[in-house]
Amino acid sequence: MQIFTDPRAFQLACRALRRSATGEEQPLGLVPTMGALHAGHMSLVAASRARDAVTAASIFVNPLQFGPREDLATYPRRWEQDVAQLEAAGVALLFAPTPETMYPPGFTTAVEVTGLSERLCGASRPGHFRGVATVVLKLFLLAAPQRAYFGQKDAAQVAVLRRMVRDLNLDIEIVVQPIVREADGLAMSSRNAYLSAAERPAALGLSRTLRAIEAAYAGGERDPQRLLAVGDAVVTATPGLRLDYLAAVDADSLAPVACAGPNTLFAIAAFVGKTRLIDNWLVS
Ligand code: PAF
Repeated sequence: MQIFTDPRAFQLACRALRRSATGEEQPLGLVPTMGALHAGHMSLVAASRARDAVTAASIFVNPLQFGPREDLATYPRRWEQDVAQLEAAGVALLFAPTPETMYPPGFTTAVEVTGLSERLCGASRPGHFRGVATVVLKLFLLAAPQRAYFGQKDAAQVAVLRRMVRDLNLDIEIVVQPIVREADGLAMSSRNAYLSAAERPAALGLSRTLRAIEAAYAGGERDPQRLLAVGDAVVTATPGLRLDYLAAVDADSLAPVACAGPNTLFAIAAFVGKTRLIDNWLVS
């Protein structure tokens, strides 16, 4: 695996590897991450390895997507383990820039997916999706992948990036892989590392809330307010769980739905202690 910190060197290496020995264009898949890799990330790598001739990954804790009182400084960093995992999984190129090389002095450009960026996590984390869209567009322009892989756990991020790709006519397929869960149902997240053993039961409240909503939906309930009330009851009954939002929205526009049905996204964000966790259930 070749490792790059310099954007231009990464760009040239991707360009070279996209050309096969016979000079033909071959598919490159990109897996953007912030590191502290877990099975969810590795499922994205595996999906790319199954489809793309070349898999590139990035590890970059992107300062632009963190608010001033968020966990940028303490975000888990596990460089050696991450490199070993990516290498073993067959990743050909790893891009791990510094904030200074990604955002040199004078950097002022931002990508704003207006209308979606302010919803769900965007409402409680102003500027978050501007930071995500900006860094992902830069990664797309550097790697020029045919496909880019993201996890369903960050469903709002997926909606924002899909809209960016559509609006800017980027010739990139966004591939979304299912949420990977721990045995107890907790959605895998790098931030799970913050949870103490005592906080773990409260953290399970997120997936329990979604399962309760799913059960009510399976029982025939379609009124989003009544479905959300079922979820709210679980949150209230879970000590140590502090709700940020629980919403029923259209998975593409992130706008609230009047009636739940296919493509409705039930999304939850909640704090356990200082740790903010997210999870969702997409009606298929
Ligand atoms: O999902 C993430 O880990 C990040 O938001 C991403 C897409 C790598 C951009 O920094």
